[in-house]
Amino acid sequence: MNYLKCIECDATYGIDEIIYKCGKCGGILEIITDLDELREKVSTNKWNDTSLSVWRYADFLPIKDRINIVTLNEGGTGLHRCKRLAEKIGLKKLFIKFEGENPTGSFKDRGMTVGISKARELDVNIVICASTGNTSASLAAYAAKSGMQCIVLVPAGKIGVGKLAQAIAHGARLVQVKGNFDNSLDMVFQLCERNNQIYLLNSINPFRIEGQKTLAFEVSEQLGVSPDCMVMPVGNAGNISAAWKGFNEFEEVGLTKSKPRMIGIQAEGASPIVKAYRKKKMTVEPILSPETVATAIRIGNPVSWKKALNSIYDSNGHAETVTDQEILDSQRLLAQTEGIFAEPASATPIASLKKLLAQGVIDRSDSVVCVATGHGLKDANVITRVFGKPIEVEANIEAIEKSLNLLVRYDKWLEESPLN
Ligand code: F0G
Repeated sequence: MNYLKCIECDATYGIDEIIYKCGKCGGILEIITDLDELREKVSTNKWNDTSLSVWRYADFLPIKDRINIVTLNEGGTGLHRCKRLAEKIGLKKLFIKFEGENPTGSFKDRGMTVGISKARELDVNIVICASTGNTSASLAAYAAKSGMQCIVLVPAGKIGVGKLAQAIAHGARLVQVKGNFDNSLDMVFQLCERNNQIYLLNSINPFRIEGQKTLAFEVSEQLGVSPDCMVMPVGNAGNISAAWKGFNEFEEVGLTKSKPRMIGIQAEGASPIVKAYRKKKMTVEPILSPETVATAIRIGNPVSWKKALNSIYDSNGHAETVTDQEILDSQRLLAQTEGIFAEPASATPIASLKKLLAQGVIDRSDSVVCVATGHGLKDANVITRVFGKPIEVEANIEAIEKSLNLLVRYDKWLEESPLN
């Protein structure tokens, strides 16, 4: 039987209790999966006949009755071998797990399909989250699919327009809060405390983490082994914790023999976890005014900081920062060498690689998986802001040729062509 357990004081709670923090000590909760039961299921039934997706791993997920599953076909995202990018960085085996291929364009859908399915199992009608954009887009879509009411609180003026558009289009009651994400999350906690009809679906809800752990299962199966290193952006710190839980469970049921080192990347202006890691501390000091171009991870007081630090320490991993300029350069490099358009937060792992190599944290011959967490179209404005507006000309051939002469030198282009 699966159950909830406090990560601080080990207090336990039933799987159907609606509770987000430990009633005894206020610690956050995790779901303890019944591994004996799982081992049996994994060895006997046909779980691996289903194609790569979150629900391929239904046996690992705490939904009792499959009739309650709400799905938009999440997971099954590509693990792209990136030879051109690897060469530029100086690595031999670099892969991008492109989570932008999920239904609403980010990894959040993995957790949301499980979170909303649990909400249905609990007979909930109203769901809520605070968000830097992707969680709200995902929750709004899954709430729409399941016929639930959805409330989202976002930091005013600080989320990508694509994400805002998604929440609005899917019919969420959207409130822009004058403040940052941490303020919005605080308001959401207070709202849920005042009204127990509202079900909280931020990543403090451990059912979200359960869905997100399938990222690790997929990477292990796509590679045939666990990679040497997983490099992931860290914001509210749920996803790196989820992936680490996934690698552990896969190992414990005998589906993989090794586990990767978990490397968490934060933007310099929003890096409370990296600061704690550098001091080898087990506590995190919140940053009051986080700032970064990577708005998805513009978070100063991450809820799952302890789970994330545990993942990093237990895996002999690492944590590092990158600057806004490094993030934008890497976003462009990824888009222009591999054809993968990821949003700024999703480019932070790539932005860190040269530094990690120089520091000896990763080795040239390591197999490295960078998780590109969300699609670049979510935050398209950042591109024109950084690269300027495209030129506009009259519809005649002279004007077109004149403008192209300014933009390209064909002779030079041909020389540089990789086909030459
Ligand atoms: N990458 C993207 C694109 C994100 O949207 C987020 C978080 C992260 C990375 C970091 O993941 O929080 O699990 O450490 N976005 C949340 C949101 C906070 O509201 O959409 P994390």
